[in-house]
Amino acid sequence: MQKNNLTVINHPLVKAKITQMRDRNTTTKMFGELVDEISGLMCYEITRDLETEEIEIETPITKTKGYKIKGNDMAIIPILRAGLGMVEGIHQLIPTAKIGHIGIYRDHETLLPVEYLCKLPSDLASRDVILVDPMLATGGSSVKAIEILKKNGAKKIRLASLVGCPEGVKAVHDAYPEVPIYLAALDERLDENGYIVPGLGDAGDRLYGTK
Ligand code: PRP
Ligand code: URA
Repeated sequence: MQKNNLTVINHPLVKAKITQMRDRNTTTKMFGELVDEISGLMCYEITRDLETEEIEIETPITKTKGYKIKGNDMAIIPILRAGLGMVEGIHQLIPTAKIGHIGIYRDHETLLPVEYLCKLPSDLASRDVILVDPMLATGGSSVKAIEILKKNGAKKIRLASLVGCPEGVKAVHDAYPEVPIYLAALDERLDENGYIVPGLGDAGDRLYGTK
């Protein structure tokens, strides 16, 4: 589904894998593998609008025309901690991408984002950015990360999350309507503690076995 700069990946493999992730009985190991696999599958849709240019190559049989990705290189920027789990699945498909890190946690009382680390490629301005974080809840962390990326010169940013909710989508769209959002699932709502319902719980804890 695509609407207002929001794309929800509608694919049987993604739907089935997200369901496995939601299951409270899914182990830490399996959870990590699913994050990795879904991120790779989403990459197909996230990069759909990359421009290509025609090139000439020679096969063992004859000369022919083919394509290469045109223009800017990419950067994959995870929001720590949980975003780290999404990097490898995308990096395998775009191996020339540089990887930056933004550390943000959500204050448990206020639910407001707190930045604690920022290490970005020095040539960020000339790269298309894929910002990754499995959860788009209040949207505070993603809005903060986009603000940091823009301050550091990023011009074209895409946001990829596994599970989002209307409140988070609205927060990002209100602040940065030009940033396309890609989700594997759009859930119902936030609960009174700022968790996505039905969601999958705390993505960082499930990914790293903390709690
Ligand atoms: C989680 C998640 C997002 C954020 C989403 O991180 O990985 O970064 O919450 O919530 P928001 O949209 O309301 O800002 P958390 O703060 O739990 O940190 P962690 O990844 O280190 O566990
Ligand atoms: N962060 C998470 O990890 N899960 C939620 O449901 C909301 C924020």
